[in-house]
Amino acid sequence: MTTPALFTPFTLKDVTLRNRIAVPPMCQYSAIDGFTNDWHLSHYAGLARGGAGLVIVEATAVSPEGRITPGCTGLWNDEQAVGMARIAEAIKAGGAVPGIQIAHAGRKASANRPWEGDDHIPEGDDRSWKTLSPSAKPFGAHLSKMPEAMTHDDIARVQADFVAAAKRALDAGFQWLELHFAHGYLAQSFFSVHGNARTDEYGNDAIGRGRFLLETLAAVREVWPQNLPLTARFGVIEYDGNDEQTLKESIELVRAMREGGLDMLNVSVGFSTPDAKIPWGSAFLAPIAERVHREAGLPVASSWGIDDPVVANRVVEEGQMDLVMVGRAMLSNPHWPYQTAMKLGVERPSWVLPAPYAHWLERYRVQSA
Ligand SMILES: Cc1cc2nc3c(=O)[nH]c(=O)nc-3n(C[C@H](O)[C@H](O)[C@H](O)COP(=O)(O)O)c2cc1C
Repeated sequence: MTTPALFTPFTLKDVTLRNRIAVPPMCQYSAIDGFTNDWHLSHYAGLARGGAGLVIVEATAVSPEGRITPGCTGLWNDEQAVGMARIAEAIKAGGAVPGIQIAHAGRKASANRPWEGDDHIPEGDDRSWKTLSPSAKPFGAHLSKMPEAMTHDDIARVQADFVAAAKRALDAGFQWLELHFAHGYLAQSFFSVHGNARTDEYGNDAIGRGRFLLETLAAVREVWPQNLPLTARFGVIEYDGNDEQTLKESIELVRAMREGGLDMLNVSVGFSTPDAKIPWGSAFLAPIAERVHREAGLPVASSWGIDDPVVANRVVEEGQMDLVMVGRAMLSNPHWPYQTAMKLGVERPSWVLPAPYAHWLERYRVQSA
């Protein structure tokens, strides 16, 4: 039997993943002052052991004010990189490639953890902090805190923070870097008309709205080695009724990012307005990812509702995406890749596991519950 597409290796620059299954960044909201702890170490080690080819560590803030919540991880100082290095090592020991997403939450920062309300921490509460955005325009709904419009100095500082965090990620042993340009956070707010009302060179039109993203990418590319993948997660569509226009502008920007040294795009949703009407459903972004791949001409990954082994294999086989990002299904079962290999009839599914598990599961085929 030929190997299902999902279980073929994938090479980008000098990095080869053992299969096409990637764990997307998923915040654990469990850090203190940006520092990781045993929760993060065991969580990421477990995800890698289950057989994924790539594990991307959660949105990690480039500065204290760039955290979404007080529980978010950070890489704004060298001490934080010590814990991150242990996590990168643990991911490698599980047989996966260690990746990390670096981020600035912009106007969505200073929020309570999802299970503590998911809303902005009230003004006056000493856990809250000042938020930054391209314009003094709040997101709305549960995140209505008014951000400060960024000055040119603020922009330069945040870009320098991205560069410093990228260097720390490299020194910590990560081999795959994802810039968080999605989900209504700072970079997405620069690109989105819902967040950006500027009239200077960082706003005005699609070229101006894309400038912060392109400049940040260029600055990071200078310090991130050419032989390692530099990727971004970007919301190419908002589901706000203006989708064709947004997609066209997004694809134009992704082309420019490709020319600026981007190696792959993790295609996502903008989440820039609380009024979006998102068509949730199994693999609903796959056709959009395929269009970005075709029109922007670079490898793509995507997620959202891909938890069925047959669907995951199909989107790779049909060329809609090069990598499948499996999030919540991996929280539910970190051995999803191994069990998916069994379901798809991979000849030796234990191959996706590290030796201390693979040896014992070679002949003992446990069926999932
Ligand atoms: C607990 C949790 C935390 C998340 N944190 C992040 C994050 O740090 N960065 C990011 O880009 N997306 C984040 N997401 C979105 C996921 O990466 C993923 O796109 C989403 O869960 C959809 O994929 P799924 O349907 O396979 O779960 C998070 C999702 C969950 C469930």
